[in-house]
Amino acid sequence: MSVARHKDSEAFFSALAQPGVRGLRAYDPGHDLVALRRRYSTSALVEIGSNENPYGPSPRALEAAHASLSDAHRYPDPLAGDLSRALAAQHGVAPPQIMIGNGSHELLMQFAQVFAGPDAEVVASRYGFAVYALAAQAAGATLRIANAYPRDHVSQPRGHNLDAIAACITDMARLVYLANPNNPTGTWFSGDAFERFMQRVPESVIVVVDEAYGEFAIDDADGYRSAFDLLRRHRNLVVTRTFSKAHALAGLRAGYAVGDAGLIAVMQRVRESFNANMPALAAALAALDDQAHLNRGIAANRVQRDLLAAALRKRGWSVSPSATNFVLVEFGERTAMIERELIARGVVTRPMVGYGLPDCLRITVGTAAENARLLIALEAIAG
Ligand SMILES: Cc1ncc(COP(=O)(O)O)c(C=O)c1O
Repeated sequence: MSVARHKDSEAFFSALAQPGVRGLRAYDPGHDLVALRRRYSTSALVEIGSNENPYGPSPRALEAAHASLSDAHRYPDPLAGDLSRALAAQHGVAPPQIMIGNGSHELLMQFAQVFAGPDAEVVASRYGFAVYALAAQAAGATLRIANAYPRDHVSQPRGHNLDAIAACITDMARLVYLANPNNPTGTWFSGDAFERFMQRVPESVIVVVDEAYGEFAIDDADGYRSAFDLLRRHRNLVVTRTFSKAHALAGLRAGYAVGDAGLIAVMQRVRESFNANMPALAAALAALDDQAHLNRGIAANRVQRDLLAAALRKRGWSVSPSATNFVLVEFGERTAMIERELIARGVVTRPMVGYGLPDCLRITVGTAAENARLLIALEAIAG
């Protein structure tokens, strides 16, 4: 089908879609990495655009995933019982307080599907993770975007301003999405600030704290505390985590939400019956059991992130403070050219135009060798 006919056809079916979906644009995953991998040999491509973990998963997780394949003709456990129990034990909660997702993206979408709708408002921060807006719109809800801290904020440039977010919560609000730390800014809010924030939120408003990068921030970022600490006090609080980042299992798709058992029970009503696949469940369970591997990856990321940020700053670029495995870097007016030229040299970063940050690139912290490739390429393009 020609591009024009395809567009016509999309417009036709879009008009038939429910109102929230009509104005929606599909999630932008960045570059077509499969095509790029074909163009460059795999070893020549430096993939630092998707905040993946370059050190790879625990060998025990891979072994467990492989072993699970002998049962591939069976459905996976629809209750994800073993993984839920292991996560419950780790976080000091009961198994019914856990819901497993096909990645945490799926769960983030479902919160809006379940708790928001055409008469509801969903609150998120400017520069918050893109999926929140998508989830709100897909549910037909009205999205209220709170102002973020300014670009020149001393410690959290463009970070979540919890006071501004609280001020956006009206009687219509049903759901608030917070990312801690946030993607793409890399910023975080403190445990104390969050505690004060929760005291201002009515119990009828569900607060989702997305801790996809939480493992990187613990014991790293000043004042950072996981929202898990407050679950007991606020039944309208839910925390999401993923196995995609620190556990390096992005390709298998496993994430989870932890919250009040009643809230989770309502979420379970819309879960696709076998949403988490067998290798993902097996790998996630084994990964949880290999804390040493997890800690090694987190420590290596921290060393490389600080070296990379220092090297970029030394060359005169502004780098946001980061409690994650990526940095947000301001390249100014030449950003689009730099991004294109990096691709031409086999280095894939993430443009930030969709976030309203055309002067920035988000760069995942790679291995020492990958970061060196990036810096050499930058030197050649913009040195
Ligand atoms: C802040 C944040 N939340 C959630 C996700 C979704 O991760 P996944 O669906 O792989 O669990 C991502 C992925 O990049 C993210 O950056």
